[in-house]
Amino acid sequence: MTRDPEAPAFPHPHLLGIEGLYPWEISCLLDEAEQWVEAGRRARKHDGRLAGLTQINAFFENSTRTLLSFEIAGKRLGADVVNLAAGSSSLKKGETLLDTALTLNAMRPDVIVIRHESSGAVALIAEKVDCPVLNAGDGRHEHPTQALLDALTIRRRKGRIEGLRVAICGDILHSRVARSNFHLLTALGAEVRAVAPPTLMPAFVERLGATAYTDMAAGLEGADVVMMLRLQLERMEGAYVPSTREYFRAFGLTRERLRAAGPDVLVMHPGPMNRGVEIDSAVADDIQRSAITEQVEMGVAVRMACLDVLTRARRGEG
Ligand code: CP
Repeated sequence: MTRDPEAPAFPHPHLLGIEGLYPWEISCLLDEAEQWVEAGRRARKHDGRLAGLTQINAFFENSTRTLLSFEIAGKRLGADVVNLAAGSSSLKKGETLLDTALTLNAMRPDVIVIRHESSGAVALIAEKVDCPVLNAGDGRHEHPTQALLDALTIRRRKGRIEGLRVAICGDILHSRVARSNFHLLTALGAEVRAVAPPTLMPAFVERLGATAYTDMAAGLEGADVVMMLRLQLERMEGAYVPSTREYFRAFGLTRERLRAAGPDVLVMHPGPMNRGVEIDSAVADDIQRSAITEQVEMGVAVRMACLDVLTRARRGEG
């Protein structure tokens, strides 16, 4: 489908996932984020276009990067930012998720950012509130701003996404980051590989356009980008790997293993990282190849873009 030049470049009320977005909608958000990368490197970073707007960050699951990043993004744009942190909400007292959503909505926020441990919870809340909702990660489902910041990092480092060979390695079964990245990278024309032990390889990867590899060396062969994922023990019931030591031996990213990849391979990790489990410190800290801290920087820019674009209609900017 081609883009209607009369329609807004991002014609959605919420950002709940990457699945279903057209390539130009993804590119629109990436293009919008570019200005905020430059702005973030200036001494004075304040913009003010969200002045007077209230942003609630409701995080029902732990976070360091995403929560801080959304808070910084909202503040740089001038919004009044309020955080509802994991563990401190009345869900702990038996309130239902929908009652919590109605309570948040009654405070008349202009945008709500939600992280929740259950897949689909963010979409459920979005149906009940009167403002844009951004998904900051729901269960195993999606983490759209993570995929966008990953794409921005790749695009800035490699100059393109189309035609790149990207190996996503590790606990794919439990990963919302992998799922959002499969949708995004295949939409933008990358060749995507899913590299995992059989116990952590979901049946759906081929349907998402990725090729499955259960051998790490074969999966890394000629890769332009290697994206490592941690073992998401909090989402596992029972053991999926014999031990973390055995896992590192077979699937940990070491310098030796990385030799199979392309000469200018970019190493990425969404964090939090478990050194010595899925990635060796020598690779994580390799300033030539590792883009891990750059991903964090791109996260603020991408979230500023998403907050700006999704609140335009409320600000009378169509
Ligand atoms: N990448 C990511 O979502 O990290 P946090 O869990 O710290 O937000």
